[in-house]
Amino acid sequence: MSDDAVALRAKMYGEDDLSSLPVFAGGFINFGYWRDIPIDGEITVDQRVDSQLALYRLVMDKLGVGPADAVVEIGSGTGVGAAWAVAEVGPREWHGVDLSPDQVRRASAHATDRLAFHQGAATAIPFPDDGFDVALSLEAAQHMDDIAGFAAEASRVLRPGGRFAVCTFFAPDADHPGELARRLETFAAGVDRDHAVPAVVSALTAAGFAGVDVTAIGEHVWAGLDRWLVQLGVPDDEWPRRWLTCYRDGLIDYYLISATVPSAASR
Ligand SMILES: C[S@@+](CC[C@H](N)C(=O)[O-])C[C@H]1O[C@@H](n2cnc3c(N)ncnc32)[C@H](O)[C@@H]1O
Repeated sequence: MSDDAVALRAKMYGEDDLSSLPVFAGGFINFGYWRDIPIDGEITVDQRVDSQLALYRLVMDKLGVGPADAVVEIGSGTGVGAAWAVAEVGPREWHGVDLSPDQVRRASAHATDRLAFHQGAATAIPFPDDGFDVALSLEAAQHMDDIAGFAAEASRVLRPGGRFAVCTFFAPDADHPGELARRLETFAAGVDRDHAVPAVVSALTAAGFAGVDVTAIGEHVWAGLDRWLVQLGVPDDEWPRRWLTCYRDGLIDYYLISATVPSAASR
Protein backbone atom coordinates (compact mmCIF):
# COMPACT_ATOMS: atom_id res chain seq x y z
CA MET A 1 0.00 0.00 0.00
CA SER A 2 1.15 3.56 -0.70
CA ASP A 3 2.82 5.69 1.95
CA ASP A 4 -0.05 8.16 1.43
CA ALA A 5 -2.67 5.65 2.58
CA VAL A 6 -0.60 4.71 5.62
CA ALA A 7 -0.20 8.40 6.49
CA LEU A 8 -3.93 9.04 5.99
CA ARG A 9 -4.87 6.21 8.33
CA ALA A 10 -2.41 7.49 10.93
CA LYS A 11 -3.91 10.98 10.67
CA MET A 12 -7.55 9.89 10.83
CA TYR A 13 -6.98 7.93 14.04
CA GLY A 14 -4.30 10.33 15.31
CA GLU A 15 -4.76 14.08 15.23
CA ASP A 16 -8.15 13.92 13.43
CA ASP A 17 -9.66 11.60 16.10
CA LEU A 18 -12.36 10.03 13.92
CA SER A 19 -14.37 9.14 17.05
CA SER A 20 -15.12 12.86 17.52
CA LEU A 21 -17.08 13.10 14.23
CA PRO A 22 -20.89 13.18 14.50
CA VAL A 23 -21.17 10.08 12.28
CA PHE A 24 -19.80 8.15 15.23
CA ALA A 25 -20.69 8.75 18.89
CA GLY A 26 -19.78 7.67 22.39
CA GLY A 27 -16.13 7.07 21.51
CA PHE A 28 -16.95 4.17 19.19
CA ILE A 29 -15.86 4.14 15.55
CA ASN A 30 -18.06 1.61 13.82
CA PHE A 31 -21.07 1.66 11.51
CA GLY A 32 -23.27 -0.11 14.04
CA TYR A 33 -25.56 -3.12 14.24
CA TRP A 34 -29.08 -1.71 14.05
CA ARG A 35 -31.25 -4.84 14.25
CA ASP A 36 -33.03 -3.82 17.47
CA ILE A 37 -32.99 -0.07 16.91
CA PRO A 38 -35.94 1.59 15.14
CA ILE A 39 -34.69 3.55 12.14
CA ASP A 40 -38.00 4.79 10.77
CA GLY A 41 -38.09 7.93 12.95
CA GLU A 42 -35.70 10.30 14.69
CA ILE A 43 -32.59 8.45 15.94
CA THR A 44 -31.14 9.73 19.23
CA VAL A 45 -27.42 9.95 19.93
CA ASP A 46 -27.93 7.29 22.62
CA GLN A 47 -29.42 4.97 19.99
CA ARG A 48 -26.45 5.63 17.71
CA VAL A 49 -24.14 4.66 20.59
CA ASP A 50 -26.27 1.58 21.25
CA SER A 51 -25.92 0.52 17.63
CA GLN A 52 -22.13 0.46 17.99
CA LEU A 53 -22.28 -1.32 21.32
CA ALA A 54 -24.59 -3.87 19.72
CA LEU A 55 -21.84 -4.78 17.27
CA TYR A 56 -19.63 -5.67 20.24
CA ARG A 57 -22.48 -7.60 21.85
CA LEU A 58 -23.00 -9.57 18.63
CA VAL A 59 -19.36 -10.64 18.53
CA MET A 60 -19.28 -11.48 22.27
CA ASP A 61 -22.39 -13.64 21.87
CA LYS A 62 -21.06 -15.41 18.78
CA LEU A 63 -17.83 -16.35 20.55
CA GLY A 64 -19.48 -17.02 23.91
CA VAL A 65 -16.98 -14.81 25.71
CA GLY A 66 -17.15 -15.39 29.47
CA PRO A 67 -15.29 -15.01 32.77
CA ALA A 68 -12.76 -17.75 32.02
CA ASP A 69 -11.48 -16.06 28.87
CA ALA A 70 -8.34 -14.07 28.19
CA VAL A 71 -9.14 -11.87 25.21
CA VAL A 72 -7.03 -9.91 22.72
CA GLU A 73 -8.78 -7.30 20.59
CA ILE A 74 -7.01 -6.09 17.47
CA GLY A 75 -7.95 -2.55 16.44
CA SER A 76 -9.37 -1.60 19.84
CA GLY A 77 -9.76 2.09 18.98
CA THR A 78 -10.60 4.34 21.90
CA GLY A 79 -11.24 1.30 24.13
CA VAL A 80 -14.92 1.92 24.84
CA GLY A 81 -16.02 -1.45 23.45
CA ALA A 82 -13.38 -3.22 25.50
CA ALA A 83 -14.37 -1.30 28.64
CA TRP A 84 -18.03 -2.24 28.12
CA ALA A 85 -17.14 -5.90 27.54
CA VAL A 86 -14.98 -6.15 30.65
CA ALA A 87 -17.70 -4.56 32.78
CA GLU A 88 -20.64 -6.51 31.33
CA VAL A 89 -19.24 -9.80 30.06
CA GLY A 90 -16.41 -10.10 32.59
CA PRO A 91 -13.52 -11.89 30.83
CA ARG A 92 -10.61 -12.50 33.20
CA GLU A 93 -8.39 -10.23 31.09
CA TRP A 94 -8.68 -8.15 27.93
CA HIS A 95 -5.78 -6.70 25.97
CA GLY A 96 -6.53 -4.12 23.29
CA VAL A 97 -3.96 -3.72 20.52
CA ASP A 98 -4.02 -0.76 18.14
CA LEU A 99 -1.64 0.55 15.49
CA SER A 100 -2.25 4.17 16.46
CA PRO A 101 -0.34 5.44 19.52
CA ASP A 102 -3.00 8.18 19.90
CA GLN A 103 -5.76 5.58 20.08
CA VAL A 104 -3.79 3.62 22.67
CA ARG A 105 -3.36 6.80 24.71
CA ARG A 106 -7.11 7.54 24.51
CA ALA A 107 -8.02 3.95 25.36
CA SER A 108 -5.66 3.82 28.32
CA ALA A 109 -8.06 6.10 30.21
CA HIS A 110 -10.24 2.95 30.52
CA ALA A 111 -7.45 0.64 31.76
CA THR A 112 -8.06 -1.46 34.88
CA ASP A 113 -6.34 -4.45 36.48
CA ARG A 114 -8.10 -6.65 33.88
CA LEU A 115 -7.98 -4.27 30.90
CA ALA A 116 -4.84 -2.96 29.19
CA PHE A 117 -4.01 -1.35 25.86
CA HIS A 118 -0.89 -1.79 23.76
CA GLN A 119 0.50 -0.27 20.60
CA GLY A 120 1.00 -2.91 17.92
CA ALA A 121 0.07 -4.10 14.45
CA ALA A 122 -2.31 -6.87 13.43
CA THR A 123 0.64 -8.46 11.65
CA ALA A 124 2.89 -8.29 14.73
CA ILE A 125 0.65 -8.78 17.77
CA PRO A 126 2.87 -7.99 20.76
CA PHE A 127 2.24 -11.20 22.72
CA PRO A 128 3.80 -14.66 22.89
CA ASP A 129 2.30 -17.78 21.31
CA ASP A 130 -0.79 -19.58 22.68
CA GLY A 131 -1.66 -16.98 25.33
CA PHE A 132 -5.31 -16.17 24.56
CA ASP A 133 -8.65 -17.95 24.54
CA VAL A 134 -10.26 -15.39 22.24
CA ALA A 135 -8.98 -13.01 19.53
CA LEU A 136 -11.40 -10.60 17.93
CA SER A 137 -11.45 -7.52 15.75
CA LEU A 138 -14.29 -5.10 14.98
CA GLU A 139 -14.29 -2.76 11.99
CA ALA A 140 -10.52 -2.73 11.69
CA ALA A 141 -9.61 -5.44 9.16
CA GLN A 142 -10.85 -3.29 6.25
CA HIS A 143 -7.75 -1.16 6.87
CA MET A 144 -5.32 -4.06 6.86
CA ASP A 145 -3.10 -4.48 3.84
CA ASP A 146 -2.07 -8.01 4.84
CA ILE A 147 -5.07 -10.10 5.87
CA ALA A 148 -3.03 -13.32 5.61
CA GLY A 149 -0.47 -11.88 8.02
CA PHE A 150 -3.26 -10.89 10.44
CA ALA A 151 -4.78 -14.38 10.27
CA ALA A 152 -1.39 -15.98 10.96
CA GLU A 153 -0.80 -13.71 13.97
CA ALA A 154 -4.28 -14.27 15.40
CA SER A 155 -3.76 -18.02 15.09
CA ARG A 156 -0.32 -17.78 16.72
CA VAL A 157 -1.47 -15.93 19.85
CA LEU A 158 -4.49 -18.23 20.39
CA ARG A 159 -4.17 -21.41 22.40
CA PRO A 160 -5.39 -24.71 20.88
CA GLY A 161 -9.18 -24.53 20.95
CA GLY A 162 -9.08 -20.72 20.91
CA ARG A 163 -11.89 -18.76 19.21
CA PHE A 164 -11.55 -15.98 16.66
CA ALA A 165 -13.88 -13.44 15.05
CA VAL A 166 -13.39 -10.64 12.58
CA CYS A 167 -16.37 -8.34 12.03
CA THR A 168 -16.24 -5.66 9.36
CA PHE A 169 -17.06 -4.84 5.75
CA PHE A 170 -15.62 -6.85 2.87
CA ALA A 171 -16.48 -7.38 -0.79
CA PRO A 172 -18.66 -10.49 -1.25
CA ASP A 173 -16.46 -11.59 -4.17
CA ALA A 174 -13.59 -10.36 -6.34
CA ASP A 175 -15.77 -9.85 -9.43
CA HIS A 176 -15.74 -6.03 -9.51
CA PRO A 177 -12.12 -4.88 -9.20
CA GLY A 178 -11.79 -1.13 -8.68
CA GLU A 179 -15.54 -0.49 -8.42
CA LEU A 180 -15.54 0.34 -4.70
CA ALA A 181 -12.67 2.77 -5.29
CA ARG A 182 -14.71 4.46 -8.01
CA ARG A 183 -17.67 4.93 -5.66
CA LEU A 184 -16.29 5.37 -2.14
CA GLU A 185 -13.58 7.85 -1.15
CA THR A 186 -12.01 5.73 1.56
CA PHE A 187 -11.35 2.97 -0.97
CA ALA A 188 -10.09 5.47 -3.56
CA ALA A 189 -7.64 6.82 -1.00
CA GLY A 190 -6.47 3.32 -0.07
CA VAL A 191 -7.59 3.81 3.53
CA ASP A 192 -9.99 0.87 3.10
CA ARG A 193 -9.06 -2.24 1.10
CA ASP A 194 -11.46 -4.26 -1.02
CA HIS A 195 -10.64 -7.66 0.46
CA ALA A 196 -13.06 -10.28 -0.85
CA VAL A 197 -14.63 -12.78 1.55
CA PRO A 198 -13.26 -15.88 -0.25
CA ALA A 199 -9.73 -14.48 0.17
CA VAL A 200 -10.35 -13.83 3.87
CA VAL A 201 -11.63 -17.39 4.33
CA SER A 202 -8.59 -18.77 2.47
CA ALA A 203 -6.27 -16.71 4.66
CA LEU A 204 -7.89 -18.09 7.82
CA THR A 205 -7.71 -21.67 6.57
CA ALA A 206 -4.08 -21.23 5.52
CA ALA A 207 -3.34 -19.90 9.02
CA GLY A 208 -4.62 -23.14 10.52
CA PHE A 209 -8.11 -22.09 11.55
CA ALA A 210 -10.97 -24.58 11.32
CA GLY A 211 -14.75 -24.22 11.32
CA VAL A 212 -14.71 -20.92 9.46
CA ASP A 213 -18.23 -19.51 9.62
CA VAL A 214 -19.29 -16.53 7.51
CA THR A 215 -22.45 -14.56 8.32
CA ALA A 216 -23.48 -11.53 6.27
CA ILE A 217 -25.08 -8.97 8.59
CA GLY A 218 -25.38 -6.06 6.17
CA GLU A 219 -29.18 -5.96 6.35
CA HIS A 220 -28.73 -4.77 9.95
CA VAL A 221 -25.90 -2.31 9.20
CA TRP A 222 -26.22 -0.30 6.02
CA ALA A 223 -29.80 1.00 6.21
CA GLY A 224 -29.30 2.19 9.80
CA LEU A 225 -26.04 3.90 8.93
CA ASP A 226 -27.71 5.60 5.96
CA ARG A 227 -30.65 6.82 8.07
CA TRP A 228 -28.17 8.31 10.52
CA LEU A 229 -26.28 10.04 7.67
CA VAL A 230 -29.56 11.50 6.35
CA GLN A 231 -30.39 12.78 9.81
CA LEU A 232 -26.95 14.42 10.01
CA GLY A 233 -27.78 16.24 6.77
CA VAL A 234 -25.45 14.38 4.41
CA PRO A 235 -26.91 15.06 0.93
CA ASP A 236 -27.85 12.32 -1.55
CA ASP A 237 -24.96 13.17 -3.86
CA GLU A 238 -22.18 13.00 -1.27
CA TRP A 239 -20.09 9.84 -1.32
CA PRO A 240 -20.97 8.48 2.17
CA ARG A 241 -24.54 7.94 0.95
CA ARG A 242 -23.10 5.42 -1.50
CA TRP A 243 -22.29 2.85 1.23
CA LEU A 244 -25.93 1.79 1.02
CA THR A 245 -26.07 1.74 -2.78
CA CYS A 246 -22.82 -0.27 -2.93
CA TYR A 247 -24.43 -2.79 -0.58
CA ARG A 248 -27.61 -2.90 -2.66
CA ASP A 249 -25.52 -3.35 -5.81
CA GLY A 250 -23.74 -6.35 -4.27
CA LEU A 251 -20.33 -4.67 -4.07
CA ILE A 252 -19.95 -4.70 -0.31
CA ASP A 253 -21.47 -6.33 2.76
CA TYR A 254 -20.78 -6.39 6.46
CA TYR A 255 -19.63 -9.74 7.87
CA LEU A 256 -19.15 -11.60 11.10
CA ILE A 257 -16.57 -14.29 10.36
CA SER A 258 -15.63 -16.69 13.13
CA ALA A 259 -13.24 -19.64 13.34
CA THR A 260 -11.41 -21.79 15.88
CA VAL A 261 -7.90 -23.04 16.34
CA PRO A 262 -8.11 -26.86 16.37
CA SER A 263 -7.58 -28.38 19.80
CA ALA A 264 -4.19 -30.01 20.41
CA ALA A 265 -5.71 -33.48 20.00
CA SER A 266 -7.10 -32.77 16.53
CA ARG A 267 -4.07 -30.84 15.20
C1 LIG B 1 -12.77 1.97 12.72
S1 LIG B 1 -11.76 1.87 14.13
C2 LIG B 1 -12.65 0.68 15.13
C3 LIG B 1 -12.38 0.82 16.59
C4 LIG B 1 -13.24 -0.08 17.49
N1 LIG B 1 -13.08 -1.47 17.16
C5 LIG B 1 -14.70 0.30 17.42
O1 LIG B 1 -15.51 -0.48 16.89
O2 LIG B 1 -15.04 1.39 17.91
C6 LIG B 1 -10.37 0.92 13.54
C7 LIG B 1 -9.19 0.85 14.51
O3 LIG B 1 -8.27 -0.12 14.00
C8 LIG B 1 -6.95 0.38 14.13
N2 LIG B 1 -6.11 -0.29 13.11
C9 LIG B 1 -6.15 -0.09 11.78
N3 LIG B 1 -5.27 -0.89 11.16
C10 LIG B 1 -4.67 -1.63 12.14
C11 LIG B 1 -3.65 -2.63 12.14
N4 LIG B 1 -3.08 -3.04 10.98
N5 LIG B 1 -3.26 -3.15 13.31
C12 LIG B 1 -3.84 -2.74 14.49
N6 LIG B 1 -4.80 -1.79 14.54
C13 LIG B 1 -5.20 -1.24 13.37
C14 LIG B 1 -7.08 1.89 13.93
O4 LIG B 1 -5.99 2.60 14.47
C15 LIG B 1 -8.41 2.16 14.63
O5 LIG B 1 -8.22 2.50 15.98
